[in-house]
Amino acid sequence: MPAVVHQPGVVTAPPAASEVTAYRVTAEHRAGLAELLRRLGAVAAAAEAADSVTVSVGASLFDERFGLAGQRPRGLTAMPAFPSDVLDPAWCHGDLTVQVCAATPERTADLSGRVAQTPGLEPLWRMPGFREGNELGRGGRAFATNLFGFREGAGNLEAEDTALMDRQVWVQPGAEEPAWTAGGSYQVIRLIRFAMPLWDADAVPKQEAVFGRHKDSSAPLGHSRETDTPDYAGDPTGQIISLDSHIRRANPRTGESDANRILRRSYSYRLERDAGGRENAGLLFMCFQRDIERGFDTVQRRLQGEALEKYVLPFGGGYYFTLPGVAAGGGDHLGRGLLEA
Ligand code: HEM
Repeated sequence: MPAVVHQPGVVTAPPAASEVTAYRVTAEHRAGLAELLRRLGAVAAAAEAADSVTVSVGASLFDERFGLAGQRPRGLTAMPAFPSDVLDPAWCHGDLTVQVCAATPERTADLSGRVAQTPGLEPLWRMPGFREGNELGRGGRAFATNLFGFREGAGNLEAEDTALMDRQVWVQPGAEEPAWTAGGSYQVIRLIRFAMPLWDADAVPKQEAVFGRHKDSSAPLGHSRETDTPDYAGDPTGQIISLDSHIRRANPRTGESDANRILRRSYSYRLERDAGGRENAGLLFMCFQRDIERGFDTVQRRLQGEALEKYVLPFGGGYYFTLPGVAAGGGDHLGRGLLEA
């Protein structure tokens, strides 16, 4: 069996800047798609060691154009609209996404520019991202402060734990999936705008109740250290950490809910102010999982009705499948397994 290999940009530490672009593939026939992926692979291979280019595909790539209908990853559909979403079609879906990550926005813009020159791609939407206070913790758990002023990362998976990544993130050989998917991962992107004035009008204790963590230390409410584990069993009615708080909904820590854990790799974004002069900023939420139904879908359903909902507006994004990586030593290329299937 060929070695299972992964693209960078999933479990690798997130650098401070990123840019995600969704494209429509205009290349024709399977040969055109093969050439396109080969070229994207070459751009990725030429990137500096600290930078990454990550290519994922959407459900629409598996329509009749390339004869790939039988090869669609089982859980790959177009992202549905969740009850509190107000999706703008101009910011959703795409045949293919390219995520570039680097230390500076200049480097991501340069890499994105090189990707965009590849013939056969028509850009649909592009979102630049940044991680404020970007910091790498134990086990490869990355931390950053979002635009609501809360640190993200404490409840995330330890990306350096390869057994955990095999269990939660990477599609495994022999899974009930097309064979080519082994080594890939389901990527969920959610473009989430923040209602900054509404948020800023609330006092800190109210904000803390929304997340279930202290704003200064990032410790779970009632605890002093960021790494402390919240005790939900000892607080069944949510006197300390409210039942509708973000962390309690996202990960109720029931034992069973371990199966739903996802690898988050989000960035903040800030665009030009809108026509009304309002701030246009929020979260380029991204997560990876081996099973989209058990991962993102389940967590998102649990978040429905959470206290955070009234401060955020999901308006775009999509469901994608991050292709397996390229084996070293020549002969392999990006998308080979898919195209030869
Ligand atoms: C709407 C914008 C969002 C904001 C501002 C936000 C912010 C946060 C913060 C501050 C934390 C606590 C620190 C941490 O564990 O990283 C957290 C945890 C978490 N969030 Fe979000 N998040 C957002 C959306 C989402 C979405 C869409 C999902 C998935 C559907 C999600 C899943 C999680 C999970 C699984 C945790 C870890 C909970 C734990 O293990 O205790 N978040 N988020």
